[in-house]
Amino acid sequence: MPNYKTIKGTHDLLPGQMDKWREVESQCLAITKQFGYQEIRTPVFESTELFQRGIGSDTDIVTKEMYSWKDQGGNRLTLKPELTAPVARAYIQHQMGNQNPLQRLSYYDTLFRRERPQKGRQRQFYQFGAEAIGSPHPEQDAEIISLAYTIYKSFNIQNMIVKLNSIGSAEIRPAYLSHLRNTLQSKKQKLCNTCKTRLEINALRIFDCKNQSCQEILDTHAPLIFHSISEDDKRHFDTVMDILTSTGIPFEHDKKLVRGLDYYSHTTFEVTSQSLGSQDALCGGGRYDGLIQQLGGKYVPAVGFAAGVERLLLAMTKNNAAVKFPLVYMLLLGEQVIKKGSELVQELRKTTGKTIVMETLRRSMKAQMREAGRCNAEYSIILGENELNSRMVVVKHMESGEQYEVPFSDLSAWFSVK
Ligand code: HAM
Repeated sequence: MPNYKTIKGTHDLLPGQMDKWREVESQCLAITKQFGYQEIRTPVFESTELFQRGIGSDTDIVTKEMYSWKDQGGNRLTLKPELTAPVARAYIQHQMGNQNPLQRLSYYDTLFRRERPQKGRQRQFYQFGAEAIGSPHPEQDAEIISLAYTIYKSFNIQNMIVKLNSIGSAEIRPAYLSHLRNTLQSKKQKLCNTCKTRLEINALRIFDCKNQSCQEILDTHAPLIFHSISEDDKRHFDTVMDILTSTGIPFEHDKKLVRGLDYYSHTTFEVTSQSLGSQDALCGGGRYDGLIQQLGGKYVPAVGFAAGVERLLLAMTKNNAAVKFPLVYMLLLGEQVIKKGSELVQELRKTTGKTIVMETLRRSMKAQMREAGRCNAEYSIILGENELNSRMVVVKHMESGEQYEVPFSDLSAWFSVK
């Protein structure tokens, strides 16, 4: 018999996890909405060229991580590995800049990257994020960073660090990269194999290497891009830092933070959590002023971030910040109470908006009560023959064990104020 399993790097979200998942989704979207961002959803696949042009043909994502294929019509297609390029494509296609000079967009979506799976790194994963398209000003960078920070704080994530840097404009990059390559050439033999290749094709990425000896070479020999940025770019970055300080957002200026996608310029940032292990980035983002033009639109400055949902959930588990759901469990004792019980739960769902779950397995009272505990019910309602005759139910507060007799006719009102 065949034994089908999920494909490596993908995972099922089982019912026990889905509740938490949805709660995280709605909390993230509620906060982005509070900051004035509106949700956008793009298709699961796009043209391969969009990502090659948008992310950069020498990046890890484009060279080895995309799920790409040719369809029956010969079109080269790719499952989306990130969302900034698709959002930029949608912005251009729907002329969104004509509707409003500043578009604040948010998303919560699933992505695909053929990376080596490990804790916090899957081949299908979820991201939420936000893109502010239209403003070149530092207060927009600060707003995006503040939005990411506010979301993590709302989940009570404690040991997180906000790291930021400026990599200046795209114009300074060719001169800086050739300076970096020349400086590291004589140390090439001491670099790891991946960094030897990076030195030739994407030298900035050497800063992302986790290898100790590569980091030592960088610390002692490598010029930092921050020291090559213009005075205007420094002023922009200083203002971002000033706004973050005045709004009480703690951060570190990490001059080695460069980010792995080619579209970035000026401010780059990441939020990391020490409790996540080697895949410690909760989210990452920055300015990408040249992307819209590169994809065929006008020059429109933009800044955004994206965050891994699985990593947020891992950090939440570490901090025991699990989300709790108020739920009421209706116990039914005997066949004769089923009709009345069904009527009451239907009425309660309508009038209170609470989650009401009714027993349908006709188990013993003890087993039903155990089930109410298992699903973390806040209250249970007991309906047996005696209660049916006296037209009252017994309501039990599960944590304290306190019990109340509530007439059928008062039940909705009783739960509405709970
Ligand atoms: P990124 O750094 O590639 O940036 O991804 C952002 C976040 O997605 C990471 O910090 C991590 O939490 C999560 N992530 C990435 N790859 C995986 C994976 N294989 N498994 C699980 N989680 C993962 C971007 O995607 C940019 N588009 C961010 C951006 C938006 N920049 C400007 N706007």
